[in-house]
Parts: sequence; C-alpha cells; structure tokens
Amino acid sequence: MLRAMFAFAPTTAADKPETYRELVASAQALTADEPDAVANMANLAALIWTFLPDLNWAGFYRLIPGSPDQLVLGPFIGKPACIRIALGAGVCGTAAATRTSQRVADVHAFPGHIACDADSRSELVVPVMRDGEVIAVIDLDSPLPGRFDADDQAGIEALAGAIAERI
Ligand code: SME
Repeated sequence: MLRAMFAFAPTTAADKPETYRELVASAQALTADEPDAVANMANLAALIWTFLPDLNWAGFYRLIPGSPDQLVLGPFIGKPACIRIALGAGVCGTAAATRTSQRVADVHAFPGHIACDADSRSELVVPVMRDGEVIAVIDLDSPLPGRFDADDQAGIEALAGAIAERI
C-alpha cells in the first residue's frame, strides 16, 4: 500500500513524553525543507491536532513588524478566533508579555481570559523565542478542565524551541 507523503501520526500506545518526542521529530521533518512561515505554521497546527487528543483549538498568534503591542492571529485549527490580542491581555498576551508559558487549568478563573470559543475550559500557551525575543505563541485550548499537565507544557516548550527558526 502507498504510504502518504505526509502521514505523520503518533504511536498509539506511546506515553505522553514519547508522544511529544514523536511530535517534535515530525515537526522538524515536516518543516525542514520549507522556508515559508505560513506554510510551516499551518502544517504545525495540523500536526499538533493530529497528535494531541481533546483539543478544540490549536494554533499560533504572532508578533509582526509594525504592530509591536499586539499579537496577531496565525494559522490554526478550530473555530474562528479573536484576530488581535494586546500584549499582556488574556492568556496569550500574558505568555507573550512575560515570556513564560501559561498553563491554565480553569480558564474561567484566569483574570482577563479572552473567550474566543465558549467550549474552552483549559488552555496552554507557550512563547516561541528567537534571538531572545518572542516571535509568536503556540496556543492550545481544550474543552476539558485541567487538560494540560507538566508533560504537555514541557512537550510544547520543546516543540517551540524546535520550530523557532522555521516560522
Ligand atoms: N483564550 C485566549 C485567546 C485565544 S483563543 O483561545 C484561540 C486568551 O485568553 O488569550
């Protein structure tokens, strides 16, 4: 049987750290030969969606030239979302402004959480850093409360490090 060219998928029985190792390796392979950031972010959002269960939104917000005070929506999987988020606002803006991952077990308890999709109950946002600057954040939302644990955070931080030069 022909194997599809981009048939990246997690090993079904893998534990969470192994799943993230596979995700990072797949992300590196998928983006290795492509210089276009939009193409790579689009495929990375799809890859995250393929590897991780129980998500209702997965994608990127970016810091772009000419708009230093706002994050701007990038490629994602999920419902249409807020387009611009002020630095420091919401979970994404807090991650970008503080340069630290935000792992929120209950978004209703996060002051200033921006509800793009009313289904979202928990959220993980990880900054993508290049040359010491935040260039984007990876945003994952789940309809399950407490969906993200320390392994998820470490795994998405590893992904952010691996793809920083490719988006
Ligand atoms: N909830 C995010 C906004 C982005 S959406 O979840 C896609 C926040 O508070 O920053």
